[in-house]
Amino acid sequence: MAVIANHCPEIKVTLVDIDSKKIDAWNDPNLDNLPIYEPGLKELVFKLRNKNLFFSSNVDLEISQADMIFISVNTPTKLSGEGAGYASDLKWVESSARKVAKFSKGHTIVVEKSTVPVRTAELIEKILRSSTTSSNESSKSFSVLSSPEFLAEGTAIRDLEAPDRVLIGGQDFESINILSGIYERWIKREKILFTNLWSSELSKLTANAFLAQRISSINAISALCEATGAEINEVSLAIGTDSRIGNKFLSAGPGFGGSCFQKDILNLVYLSKYYGLNEVANYWEQVLFLNIWQKKRISSILINRFFGTVTSKKICLLGFSFKPFTNDTRESSSISIAKDLIENGAHVVINDPQVSKKQISRELGYQEEKILDQSEGLWTFSPDIMEAVKGTDAIVVVTGWNEYQNLNWQNISNLMRKPAWIFDTVNHIDKEEIKGTGLNLWQLGFGNRNFDN
Ligand code: UGA
Repeated sequence: MAVIANHCPEIKVTLVDIDSKKIDAWNDPNLDNLPIYEPGLKELVFKLRNKNLFFSSNVDLEISQADMIFISVNTPTKLSGEGAGYASDLKWVESSARKVAKFSKGHTIVVEKSTVPVRTAELIEKILRSSTTSSNESSKSFSVLSSPEFLAEGTAIRDLEAPDRVLIGGQDFESINILSGIYERWIKREKILFTNLWSSELSKLTANAFLAQRISSINAISALCEATGAEINEVSLAIGTDSRIGNKFLSAGPGFGGSCFQKDILNLVYLSKYYGLNEVANYWEQVLFLNIWQKKRISSILINRFFGTVTSKKICLLGFSFKPFTNDTRESSSISIAKDLIENGAHVVINDPQVSKKQISRELGYQEEKILDQSEGLWTFSPDIMEAVKGTDAIVVVTGWNEYQNLNWQNISNLMRKPAWIFDTVNHIDKEEIKGTGLNLWQLGFGNRNFDN
């Protein structure tokens, strides 16, 4: 919305949320307190806030004044009831649609921006239509479009400025042209794809499933590299130069995290099962199984390097966000790796340049320094890298933040307890910098490279 406001100064963009605390944070005079860390966003909010970009918790009033409404609420995986563990929970989409139905005036274009199961637009349409049939509401009308978002966190502004494509699904040409006209302010029309509603909804799930599938594929090969002596970066390069395969999304790592890939594949699996396509469901579910296995594999390798036990070992985890340049920790591989180590009795010291102690505590489900009864493991937070590594037996690099590159490994080695290990799960460290420091190095997907000093 900030990018739209920036390119369309004559359009008034208002973000509404029923959570007034969130809105207060977006209106905070101190821009460092914005709820989301995203490169470039703070600057846009600084430039546009209260000019043509507004944040309000007066949801009903803003709906009544809007010509176009983007439903951009979250659609997490259902935790209970029908489809639990697979289907998306649409309660926020539904309650948003009900509010739009109740408070909108005149003709309103409703754009489904949230990632949703196929045919959700039908649900939105039904709710909206029911409000137009009640006797005194005859002047109300709606047009529902689907326009899924393809931006990635950490590069969101850049992705929106120069997207590979914008997708608009729907059948009402007038509304489609109005929405397209907004994007055409800075994106060439050739890059705007027009489809039917269901293709648009399914394309979003499919795009994420394909991206996740590539990661699981390369992660599967990383394990084979370690077993055979091949090197994952060489394999990625060799296959990525084939223009049919392409070189993006071929970085092996500790498994994909984030709020989207797992949720969207679960959704696809649910949808396939719903239509009786069990083979299709099993095929996609395997992408998730491999992802879970990769995270577990890393914890197991680490524990095995310590001869099967990390009880009373101090282990530093570098990085807690699910990828660099974001403070989002949802489904981060760090959560699973940290929990495994703590449950095996380790003291895990966590460092991240953007994630707060409070957030880590929420993700792990237990407070800092709280000893887990069964294992005596615990975690602590350290905002300073050199403090974090002090007295540790191992360092695990889980998120590829710039801060973890070009560290003085000799100084770090001097602070660690020997024998000391570095487990680089994102291939972020130049092995030459480790040589001669007295540190042992393990890097994901490298057969022969891992060495003991
Ligand atoms: C993803 C998609 O990339 C976006 O196109 C989509 O719009 C978004 O989901 C969404 O549905 O909202 P995002 O989850 O923000 O974006 O981040 P990605 O860059 O896709 O990374 C996801 C995970 O895959 C991260 O944990 C990342 O470290 C991992 N990854 C990515 C790899 O392990 N290897 C790679 O080569 C690339």
